[in-house]
Amino acid sequence: MSELFQLRCPQCTRAITGAALALCPDCFYPLKITYDLPEVSRRLTRKVVESRNHDIWRYQELLPVAVDTPRLAGVGWTPLLRADRLGRRLGSELLYLKDDAANFPTLSFKDRVVAVAVAQAQALGYQVVGCASTGNLANAVAAHAARAGLDSWILVPHDLEPAKLLGTLVYGANLVLVDGTYDQVNRLCAEIAEVRNWGFVNVNLRPFYAEGSKTVAFEIAEQLGWRLPDNVVVPMAGGAQLTRIAKGFEELVEVGLVPPGQVRLFGAQAQGCSPIASAVLEGRSHLIPQVPNTICRSLAIGDPADGHGALATIAGSGGGADTATDEEIVAGIRQLAESEGVFGETAAGVTVAVTAKLISQGRIAPRQTTVLCVTGNGLKTVDCLQSELAMDRAVAPTMEAFENRYAALAGAA
Ligand SMILES: Cc1ncc(COP(=O)(O)O)c(C=O)c1O
Ligand SMILES: [Zn+2]
Repeated sequence: MSELFQLRCPQCTRAITGAALALCPDCFYPLKITYDLPEVSRRLTRKVVESRNHDIWRYQELLPVAVDTPRLAGVGWTPLLRADRLGRRLGSELLYLKDDAANFPTLSFKDRVVAVAVAQAQALGYQVVGCASTGNLANAVAAHAARAGLDSWILVPHDLEPAKLLGTLVYGANLVLVDGTYDQVNRLCAEIAEVRNWGFVNVNLRPFYAEGSKTVAFEIAEQLGWRLPDNVVVPMAGGAQLTRIAKGFEELVEVGLVPPGQVRLFGAQAQGCSPIASAVLEGRSHLIPQVPNTICRSLAIGDPADGHGALATIAGSGGGADTATDEEIVAGIRQLAESEGVFGETAAGVTVAVTAKLISQGRIAPRQTTVLCVTGNGLKTVDCLQSELAMDRAVAPTMEAFENRYAALAGAA
């Protein structure tokens, strides 16, 4: 092959070129990207990676984008932070945060997937890109389209957080609020993709989009000093991120960039929308779709596209899953912010709360290297904190007024 990657059907092995498709036209099996891994391992040494810019493209041989395709620089390479104070609270001695709340340009891990999908959309000649979104993807598609000079059409459930709606409109995107759940929005996008020549990043460009999530795994391993962690806790909606993080670790081993090791993948969901975690907890191999009811709107996908893949990945890795209630989500956000100075969104609250359970139940051992994926920024979901963190009334600009307030606050602390 001229490129190092191919879009292929894992069932009948048919290769697809020059088209955006998520399913095999012959057997309707979800298409996957495969790589010429022996050739990648010849070209991609640690030295080569380390000599490149600090963004997702430092692993370009393991991404499905031709070298001459325009791409957005600066995406990814977010901090991997030691989290000793949070670790002490949760009972882990080797806890890390992969902080995609600081991702460029729209402060969530979705910038990674969209960077790859929009680059491929440009390679395929699309003038219009779009998505069905629970919020963060909307922000990322709108921003990346603006930078690439493409039009964007973005469809979302009508009840998303105001910051996520404004954070889409500001880029000049066409935003359509739909009176329905994410799953209804997603089906509508699939129908639109049939009749319009648009690149929907998570519909017809899905195989490319999903590959962007692998870069989280590449960076974690490199930032740990080219080694694999023992456990990674990942918030799940459609389930793509968790499955592709596992694929990323496998590929690093296959091309010889890290020594082999077992990484256990743990999935985190809100109790009010937990089709994948419930199946894991109940030992089911099939998913039961749900109508979401949770403050964590970013994870509110009741019929996850990569749900079966996530189940298989979790089981195959020896990991697990659990859920968090809305109260636990808010407590998790505050715990993370107060102990580590990282303000994550509701999905981060889910991840922290679920990690606490996994450690307290002995499913994650204290001395193992455990990485929590903080996938989005708390400034986009402040609504859920408003009743908890009510502001005191203003004081007069005098020392007396300050001393009174000091006495009241310090006394209460
Ligand atoms: C902040 C955040 N974290 C995690 C996820 C889950 O990603 P996936 O749909 O790949 O499971 C999403 C999805 O929208 C998200 O917005
Ligand atoms: Zn096929």
